[in-house]
This record gives sequence, structure tokens and C-alpha cells, in this order.
Amino acid sequence: MKSENTVQKTADYVKHKLEGEGSGHDWWHIYRVWQMSKLLQQIEGGNRLVVELAALIHDLIDRKFIGGDIDKGIANTETLLMKMGVDSSVIEQVVIAASDVTFSKSIGKEKPRTKEGEIVQDADRLDAIGAVGIARCFSYGGSKNRLIYDPNNKPKAWSDPEAYKRSNTPSINHFYEKLLLLKDLINTQTAQKIAEERHQVMVKFLDQFYAEWDGKK
Ligand code: ADP
Ligand code: NI
Repeated sequence: MKSENTVQKTADYVKHKLEGEGSGHDWWHIYRVWQMSKLLQQIEGGNRLVVELAALIHDLIDRKFIGGDIDKGIANTETLLMKMGVDSSVIEQVVIAASDVTFSKSIGKEKPRTKEGEIVQDADRLDAIGAVGIARCFSYGGSKNRLIYDPNNKPKAWSDPEAYKRSNTPSINHFYEKLLLLKDLINTQTAQKIAEERHQVMVKFLDQFYAEWDGKK
């Protein structure tokens, strides 16, 4: 089968599967990561088909969708790609790239093993910063009934990610606890440049936000 067909069929499947997902991992998050991954691949290299498929399925493996069982997520994804007619050598590379995006997220600083993994991880991280990142942050906070900002609740370093998830930390704190740190975790040079620009958008946004909060602008 032509690879464009495989990619389109996979995109249709993922779109159907994630429709209505409200945790910031809806189809349009996948769509943006997919588009950005293609742009990065054009400049950074790596296998085009592997990059596109890994971008499309990266959140299907994720622990959030499979109740903590990454092996099960991987097995389901392999079956799906086999049904789409993808070569087993390609499937292997897609799974390595996509599971590195998920796995390295959970353990912190580990780098993906492959160029394709680096690209999709960069695209995923870029989607958490800049204008879209700001929107996602407040949308997530809203879904958890969190305040947008509370001057009496300062950002802090959380060592336990689960405790962080359960907390009622205001959305603005998430910029300091995660979003402003992401630009230093980018793998590729191309994504680094885009991250710098998106970082500045957030810095400006925060300046304006505090000025408005105190009636100064
Ligand atoms: P990922 O996109 O890496 O899977 P998460 O599941 O942690 O990341 O987050 C999904 C989206 O929700 C991201 O845009 C992220 O910034 C946002 N988000 C996650 N945790 C918080 C939080 N505590 N407060 C505000 N936004 C959050
Ligand atoms: Ni993602």
C-alpha cells in the first residue's frame, strides 16, 4: 500500500478514537503534533513514514489511555499498524519512537533513542508552549476546576508528579513548574528556534497578565 494511504488511514482511525477526549489530548493536539513533526522532519531528516505514524499514535501508547499499562498500549498499537498494512520493520521503528516520547516524559531527562523519536518529542513539547500552550494550560486547569491565578499560592518544585496532579495548584503556576522549562529540553535545532519564539510569547503573556491583575495596564 502507498505510504500516503497508510498515513491517512491511521489519521482517520486516531481521529475517530480521540474524538471528544477532553484532557488536552484531543484529536487536534495530535493533528498539530503531526503537522509540526512533518515540518521538523523536512529539515532534520529521519524517516518520513516513521515520523508521521509515530506522531499520529504517540498518545495511544500513553499511560493515560491504557490505565498504566504501557506494554498493552504498545501491543494494541502494533496490531493497529499491522491492520493498516505497515511493514513490520517500520512498525518496530514507530513503536520505538512513540514509546520514547511517552517513556522519557515519565522519567524526566532521558533522550529518545532515534531521530524520529526526537522529532515527535519536540513537536509534542512545542504544543505545550506558545499561544496554543497557553490555551491548553487554562483549558486543562478549567477541566480540574482550578483558579487561573492565586497570588497567595506560589509556584514550587514538585517532586511527586502524582501529588502535583491531585493538587489544586492554579494554572499560572504550571508555567513555572513546567512550561517555561520546556525550551531547554528540546532535542533538535529547528525545534529549538521555534521553542525560543514560543517561549517569548509566554513571557510577554505573563508580564501582561500580572499588569492587568493589579490594574496597571
Ligand atoms: P503531555 O502533552 O506531555 O501529555 P500533560 O498530559 O502533562 O502533557 O498535559 C496536557 C496539557 O495540559 C499540556 O498542554 C499541559 O501544559 C497541560 N497541563 C498539564 N498539567 C497541568 C497543570 N497542572 N496545570 C495546567 N495545565 C496543565
Ligand atoms: Ni501528546
